Amino acid sequence: MSEPILTSGELLARFQALDGFLLQHQALWRPRPFYHLRLPWEAELPELAAWLRSRSLEQAQASDSDLFALAAPAPFTELARQAQALSQLGEFPSRDAPARAPNLSVDVPGRKLAQIQAFASHLQFQQQPTHWLDWCSGKGHLGRWLTQADQRLTCLEYDPALIESGSALSKRLGLDAMHLQQDVLAGDCSERLSKEHTPVALHACGDLHVRLLQLASRNGCSQLAVAPCCYNRIASKQYQALSAAAQASALQLSRDDLGLPLSETVTAGARVRRQRDQSMAWRLAFDLLQRQLRGIDEYLPTPSLPSEWLSKPFARFCHDLAALKGVASPGEQDWVTLEASGWQRLAEVRNLELLRNLFRRPLELWLLLDRALYLEEQGYSVSLGTFCDYQLSPRNLLLLAERA
Ligand SMILES: C[S@@+](CC[C@H](N)C(=O)[O-])C[C@H]1O[C@@H](n2cnc3c(N)ncnc32)[C@H](O)[C@@H]1O
Repeated sequence: MSEPILTSGELLARFQALDGFLLQHQALWRPRPFYHLRLPWEAELPELAAWLRSRSLEQAQASDSDLFALAAPAPFTELARQAQALSQLGEFPSRDAPARAPNLSVDVPGRKLAQIQAFASHLQFQQQPTHWLDWCSGKGHLGRWLTQADQRLTCLEYDPALIESGSALSKRLGLDAMHLQQDVLAGDCSERLSKEHTPVALHACGDLHVRLLQLASRNGCSQLAVAPCCYNRIASKQYQALSAAAQASALQLSRDDLGLPLSETVTAGARVRRQRDQSMAWRLAFDLLQRQLRGIDEYLPTPSLPSEWLSKPFARFCHDLAALKGVASPGEQDWVTLEASGWQRLAEVRNLELLRNLFRRPLELWLLLDRALYLEEQGYSVSLGTFCDYQLSPRNLLLLAERA
């Protein structure tokens, strides 16, 4: 039997179960293997740690896509069972979407089009929308896809180039659409929302979609749909809980913690993965070097670097990164051995991360439930479910809210 979606009345109980689970196992998911030569939990779970550390990079990658089935030493399997049970969430029923003109999909990248179609076909409001508001719309592909002949569309976006292309596309299709330049975080954004609007947000990042929930509820919108993304893109260092239940929780989340749900890479292509692996292996090797050069056994954060850095010889990479970070010049080193140690560490890090990854979906659902409970407090009935396959987008959770 397929899993059910979550609706008002069930939200708080699930939130509290997730809250307890995340709090109880904080020691396992908070520390990031990338930053530590040894994780604090390894002393308590030596068998699991040794097993994970003995595996290859390829094994880590294969296991991450089928995490809950991994036959690792205790308590991995039991934690996986609990995480899976707590993360269960069904797909919204899909409706037969009205036929759309083929030219609507012109200029929409394939994966984005499939996400938009999935989002649109899982929207079900009691009241027929009259005026869609595409929030952080980019070129407004989602809004255009949703808008029928008798409906209006407003797109809010702050990037002028996207607004210009979006307006041109809407004009070409003869749509009654307004593409407005608006920083949705600015004070004057409140004027853009009124009760006639049905806001939709597909993959709007942290503060951006939170702002929508706040303004839509304050300005009387009777229905909205949000598929959140990048929970860690927030201005504050610590997560600001929205609902009373999350505010009362002992779970305090840093921006770094909020990155956990975003750490999977199902949609990355082979070239991107290879580049990311090399960048991480080299950084891990540099980390070993900088600990030795500084005489401080601590991780040293390094900034993200242009991809050209990965075309340099490894020794030059280390010299340049040391200079950038104000670390003493490495001089001559056994570069071959050091680089190999970086790759070895990468394999260990990726395997140790598998334990942390069990908490990825529970944390994401905790965050989504915080948003849902907040909207419930604002008088909405809320339902949560998935709108597309995980492979199409790992950010596949959808929140629908309606108020009488
Ligand atoms: C991840 S994209 C999603 C775009 C679109 N909804 C989609 O699914 O293709 C986020 C969009 O938010 C826009 N954005 C970022 N910060 C913004 C802000 N403060 N105000 C308005 N738009 C913003 C970006 O320019 C970008 O187009």
